[in-house]
Amino acid sequence: MLRQKPDFLVQFAVHGLLRRFAALDAALRKLPGMLPYALTPENLVFGVTKNDADVRAKAFAVEHENPAKIKSYLDSFTKAVQVQSEAPPACKIAFFQRIQEHPMRTSRFFFTTLKEAPADAEVVSQKLMLRAGYIKRAAAGIYTWMPLGLRVLRKVENIVREEMNRAGALELLMPAVQPFELWEESGRGPAYGPELLRFKDRHQRDFVIGPTHEEVITDVVRRDVKSYRQLPIHLYQIQSKFRDEIRPRFGVMRGREFLMKDGYSFHASFADLQREYDNMYATYSRIFTRLGLKFRAVAADTGAIGGTGSHEFHVLADSGEDAIAYCAQSAYAANVELAEALAPAAPRAAATTAMNKVATPGKTACAEVAEFLGVGLERIVKSIAVVTEPEDGGKTFALLLLRGDHELNEVKAGKLAALAPFRFASETEVEEHLGCKPGYIGPVLGGGRNIRVIADRSVAAMSDFICGANEGGHHLFGVNFARDLPEPEVADLRQVVAGDPSPDGQGQLDILRGIEVGHIFQLRQKYAAALNCAYLDENGKSQIMEMGCYGIGVSRIVGAAIEQGNDERGIVLPAAIAPFDVCIVPMGYHKSDAVRAEADRLYETLAAAAIDAVLDDRNERPGVMFADMELIGIPHRIVIGERGLKDGQVEYKGRQDGEATMLAADDILAFIQKKLCAG
Ligand SMILES: Nc1ncnc2c1ncn2[C@@H]1O[C@H](COP(=O)(O)OP(=O)(O)O)[C@@H](O)[C@H]1O
Ligand SMILES: [Mg+2]
Repeated sequence: MLRQKPDFLVQFAVHGLLRRFAALDAALRKLPGMLPYALTPENLVFGVTKNDADVRAKAFAVEHENPAKIKSYLDSFTKAVQVQSEAPPACKIAFFQRIQEHPMRTSRFFFTTLKEAPADAEVVSQKLMLRAGYIKRAAAGIYTWMPLGLRVLRKVENIVREEMNRAGALELLMPAVQPFELWEESGRGPAYGPELLRFKDRHQRDFVIGPTHEEVITDVVRRDVKSYRQLPIHLYQIQSKFRDEIRPRFGVMRGREFLMKDGYSFHASFADLQREYDNMYATYSRIFTRLGLKFRAVAADTGAIGGTGSHEFHVLADSGEDAIAYCAQSAYAANVELAEALAPAAPRAAATTAMNKVATPGKTACAEVAEFLGVGLERIVKSIAVVTEPEDGGKTFALLLLRGDHELNEVKAGKLAALAPFRFASETEVEEHLGCKPGYIGPVLGGGRNIRVIADRSVAAMSDFICGANEGGHHLFGVNFARDLPEPEVADLRQVVAGDPSPDGQGQLDILRGIEVGHIFQLRQKYAAALNCAYLDENGKSQIMEMGCYGIGVSRIVGAAIEQGNDERGIVLPAAIAPFDVCIVPMGYHKSDAVRAEADRLYETLAAAAIDAVLDDRNERPGVMFADMELIGIPHRIVIGERGLKDGQVEYKGRQDGEATMLAADDILAFIQKKLCAG
């Protein structure tokens, strides 16, 4: 954030390129007079405090073509700073010297593309990342990032880092290996289960490989932060995590070892935590926008902590593991785990038939019963038997009632005080309580049985319904609450479906698939209290800190971006994270002097303009080179051939263009610069 009034603003002539050049960006930040956090070259403008800032560039005042845009941008992130006046700020255009990149020639690069993906690869991003040689599998859910894939990973990481720094967070690096004692102290050790990889050192002391770092960071802060004057503080790291996932799959998207950005903020008040939470919400939105991804922020489950303080950021993709309930009319968005299913608007209709027992031999599934009886699935009530065994003893057996066409939402059910925590009843338990096998069970129990019945809101509104008869091979027809069985307890138990009314009362829900790439969370005092992370307030009184945590799946983002961007020829990445901007593919580099000279010249020209170019100087057939460059996801391709060169022309093709175009070789630099600025 701009903390001081800038004396003047610098706009980069080639700003669209700088976006992809953290090296340039970092160098700029070291310049005298450059304000802290005044980065983000995509936004055209830098604040500079001194007129004499030596930016290794010629700078001269010009009228900016779009001052209103600059002003509105500055206003959007500088609440504290008033940009000088309504009049266009004095803009400067700077030309930069190139910072030398390593020359990228495929002959010297480590390309390892494959024709076929391994048979066990499940999703398209995983197949393409393996085929393109981005990653190599070392063990289930554990991968090496090859030089090519690492370029993409680092570009993602750099954007995340730049935006976190800009938002005022401080980077640190915690150990991957953590003492188990901290996990005992927080009480999380046993709850985490087998996902937590534990081991002993040579002294038989217990350690874990960190799946997350709340304990370690809280330990750091409780030791060094003593006073309200040191708060707030936000610390983050970008580091490998290990979670011994039961089913690692989808390549880097659900790995066991993966790269995460995890940030933790500490505050003297809940209000201040909420302020930082909003800051992170905005920061995450900027990060995913800069990455060039289609994403959505959705309200998420806060588990045991409760409240509304959690959002997930999802990249939209059909292959996503998560379902998002989304309302186009109101922009309501929530993970379906959380989305409330409202009670039906219409009241329960009066009973019209008497209750009857019907034989339904061999029909145990709702769909089979509905078909057999010739009724709609929505007339059936299914009963799900669950058991709750609280730690303080006692055991409750309960039936959860759902409409035949609805699914149980286990997260919502698990939050009911009467059930938390619950598990599904075993076949033996079902027989013991209901005297019949699963498939024919139902809520019409007769007297004397100690069974709790909890109906979903939509079931509570049903009349004349069909349910199991608690007798093998039989169902009951024409069942009605109050008459045939007591009124049930009512709760929101089901998963929302497309077409349901939006919980905010405006419009209808739609269901989208998403990949969770970020998660922000108001932890409140959960860890701070357990680990006694306290500070002295203005009155010298000890208070427990408020805490927030903020995660981004850096390595998962690469997979998610490819799920969103691919075609039959391979990877199509957003320009901000493609491994290279441009590839130069010469036809006959090793045979034609003219071709080689022009390819080298063009490569040097692009490199000198700080464009991330790769020259395919392998002695391969053109088809092989084209296929490889398309597979690995390079947005722009220039082909140099002897025939075109005779007229001073080369061929250009964008990764998703249908046709190639011929251009004057001398115009290529300007042409590519324009493309990159636009992308
Ligand atoms: N097994 C995994 N592989 C890759 N990335 C992961 C994995 N687990 C979590 N992440 C990423 O790390 C981010 C923060 O993790 P967190 O929210 O603690 O995980 P979870 O939602 O699985 O509890 C997630 O939003 C996700 O992007
Ligand atoms: Mg999460």
